[in-house]
Amino acid sequence: MVDLNMMYPDDLPKLDWVAQLAQSAGSLTLEYFRKSFGVSDKGSHLGLVTDADVASEAHIKQKITSSYPNHVMLGEETGWTDSAHDGQVVWIVDPIDGTSNFSKGNAFYCVSIACGLLVGGQFVPLRAAIVQPATGDVYSAGKGLGTWCNGQRLALGADTLDPRRWSIATGFSSNKGDSLAGVIRCVEVMQNEILGMRINGAAALDLALTSRGIFDGFFESRLSPWDMAAGELLVREAGGTVVNYQGEPFNALTDKNIVAGPQHVVEYLLSMLRQVQKGLTSSAWP
Ligand code: 2AM
Ligand code: CA
Repeated sequence: MVDLNMMYPDDLPKLDWVAQLAQSAGSLTLEYFRKSFGVSDKGSHLGLVTDADVASEAHIKQKITSSYPNHVMLGEETGWTDSAHDGQVVWIVDPIDGTSNFSKGNAFYCVSIACGLLVGGQFVPLRAAIVQPATGDVYSAGKGLGTWCNGQRLALGADTLDPRRWSIATGFSSNKGDSLAGVIRCVEVMQNEILGMRINGAAALDLALTSRGIFDGFFESRLSPWDMAAGELLVREAGGTVVNYQGEPFNALTDKNIVAGPQHVVEYLLSMLRQVQKGLTSSAWP
C-alpha cells in the first residue's frame, strides 16, 4: 500500500488556488458564450473546438506553467506539456467540457481542472475544481479535505435506497453507429426502473452534479482523462465510489469508462451494465 501522505509534494497548490483558476477560466468562456466565435471540427469523431476552448486552455496553461514550472499538464486541446515520470505532479485540464452545448448556447458546460500525482502509472487526484460558468457554481475537492460547492461541504448519504427515486445521468460521448445500441439499451432498461435518465453532454459536470446528489449516479463510456479526472475526486471526497465498467479501481489516465455515485447506486449500475452487455453483440457494446 502506497502511503500518499509521505509522497505529497511540497509545491502542491492550495485548493483555493485551483478553484480560482477554474473560475477565472470560466469567466473567460462567458466572454464568448452566446456571442459569435470561431468553431472548427477536430475530425469526424473528435468533436468541436471553439475559440473559447483555445482561450480557456491557453489561460489555464499559462497560469500553471508559470506558477508550477516543475509540474506537467495534460490539456484536451494541446496535449502533454512534457513527459511525466513516476512521482510527478500532473494536471489534467478540460478547458470546456460540453463544447457541443457551449457552441449552441446551452449553459450545461464547465471548466474542469485536476491536479494529482502519477504513482505507478495511476493518476491519484489530490486537488480538483469544476466550475459551471453560466450558473456560477464552483465545485472543489482536496484529498482528505472533502468536496465543497459554493462554500458548503457536500456529503452523499445512503438515504435514497429506492431506485424509483433516482435520477441517473449518462452520455453518448463519441458513440455513433453500432456502438450506440448499448447506451440506448441501458437507458431503456433504467428508464423503466428509476425516476428518470438524463443525457446532458458534459461528463465532468455530470460528475460534479453527482457529488452534489443532484444526480444519484453517473456512468459513461468512451471518455478521455480530462472528462473524468476532476469529477472522480469530487465524487470520492463527497463519500461516493468511483470504478470502471468492470468494477475495478478507477484510473483516469487509462480507463475509458466510469461508474460513479454512492456505493449502493454503483452496485446497481454495475449489475445493470453486466445484464445489458450479456444481451448484445460486442460491436453494440460501447
Ligand atoms: P467535450 O465536450 O470536452 O468534448 C458527452 O457525452 C461527453 O463526452 C462530454 O464530456 C464530451 O467532452 C465528451 N466527448 C465528446 N466527444 C468525445 C470523444 N470523441 N471522445 C471522448 N469524449 C468525448
Ligand atoms: Ca473539452
